[in-house]
Amino acid sequence: MVPGMGAVATTLIAGVEAVRRGYAKPIGSMTQMGTIRLGKRTDDNTPLIKNWAPIADLNDIVFTGWDIFGGNLYDAAKTAGVLDRDQLDSMRPFLESIEPMPAAFDQRWVKRLDPKVQKVGKNKCDLANQIRNDIAEFKTKTDRQVMIWTGSTEIYIEQSAVHQTLAAFEKGLVDDDENISPSMLYAWAALKEGIPFANGAPNLTVDIPALRELSKKMNAPICGKDFKTGQTFLKTVLAPAFKARQLGVAGWYSTNILGNRDGEVLDDPDNFKTKEESKLGVLEHIFQPDKNPELYGNIFHKVRINYYPPRGDNKEGWDNIDIFGWLGYPMQIKVDFLCRDSILAAPLALDLCLFMDLAARTPSLRGLGIQEWLSFYFKAPDSAPGVYPEHDLFIQSMKLKNTLRHIMGEDLITHLGLEYYGE
Ligand SMILES: NC(=O)c1ccc[n+]([C@@H]2O[C@H](COP(=O)([O-])OP(=O)(O)OC[C@H]3O[C@@H](n4cnc5c(N)ncnc54)[C@H](O)[C@@H]3O)[C@@H](O)[C@H]2O)c1
Repeated sequence: MVPGMGAVATTLIAGVEAVRRGYAKPIGSMTQMGTIRLGKRTDDNTPLIKNWAPIADLNDIVFTGWDIFGGNLYDAAKTAGVLDRDQLDSMRPFLESIEPMPAAFDQRWVKRLDPKVQKVGKNKCDLANQIRNDIAEFKTKTDRQVMIWTGSTEIYIEQSAVHQTLAAFEKGLVDDDENISPSMLYAWAALKEGIPFANGAPNLTVDIPALRELSKKMNAPICGKDFKTGQTFLKTVLAPAFKARQLGVAGWYSTNILGNRDGEVLDDPDNFKTKEESKLGVLEHIFQPDKNPELYGNIFHKVRINYYPPRGDNKEGWDNIDIFGWLGYPMQIKVDFLCRDSILAAPLALDLCLFMDLAARTPSLRGLGIQEWLSFYFKAPDSAPGVYPEHDLFIQSMKLKNTLRHIMGEDLITHLGLEYYGE
């Protein structure tokens, strides 16, 4: 169930259908193409994850969702302009068969978009219950459900009183509290229905005590927010490398040009602020400047996104990194990533749906609420209160695979490796 059926969602759904029909490969998806080592390196036992863990089969996935534009997914995918027209035409009847349901939307949160269709209700509680009804209807047609937000980035807000307890939140729904955003209505409805909720955008959404409480109460998993796809993905690869070698960093300047609808929404300063916070957080946690003040105590970190329509979904992200080495001598690294935003995001969205569904079926995971093992997918991973999030991509990948080994009753892999050298 997908609130927000724009570029990422249509690339995910058309992509899954293309893979099901054998037209293309699910590249970038760990659940579909990833392998996992079991036992010792000498055991030669490295199955495909999908053949080993009880992950849902792509052929069993049914999609539905909500948006403000009406029409069907063929039109939405054409507007998004990510996949080739020929590829879309080859799946046209399938894509035309999916029509987003009217959204719970409020332009205060996404100022650059004008809705064509949206739900009308007497208050936020009414709107959230309409979403619950949509979910209940979908439940009659499917065995299990997962919700993933691929809707727009909402304006920046901080936590307030209404977010602190479930009781305050549910009262706020009735009172139309201004601090409850549309994405929170979907999340509340999903969790209330016992359905896992993942967040592809940097919105506050479930990152509040009230919805964490609901997640635990309903055994409905939640995870982090904001897909880690392009620039931040590379940042969380490079930064751990500098830290591992004790190379200092004086500055990290990151800028992007992006021309899709997401870029247009982020052109508004209040919406960009939400993204900026999410993108800025990673270096602080990886470098731990308080523990390494001489190397990282004085980093100048800047992130910009510029809306530039000619590029559409084909984002270009530049990084200039000023590092310093032995005796303080300065060096520079330049990264220019000519990427495709939704091509990078779609496989992450697929993996999250399948892993969240697995978490909901795993007794030792579902009662935890937060699924920290899925940090791998997010710019802003979620972690237990008081525990700092892990941003290093390789720690995240180890954590994910060890969690899979753990739930499948396999030995964890620590990479100690002394056993190969004993008697
Ligand atoms: N593509 C990436 O690499 C990437 C990476 C990280 C995060 N994201 C985030 O994922 C989200 C989706 O990106 P996209 O490129 O598909 O954007 P998009 O603009 O193409 O799609 C977002 C859709 O959400 C809809 N929407 C907005 N508010 C809604 C609401 N209340 N209910 C239902 N629908 C609503 C919009 O109408 C739009 O169709 C954005 O928040 C973006 O920041 C994308």
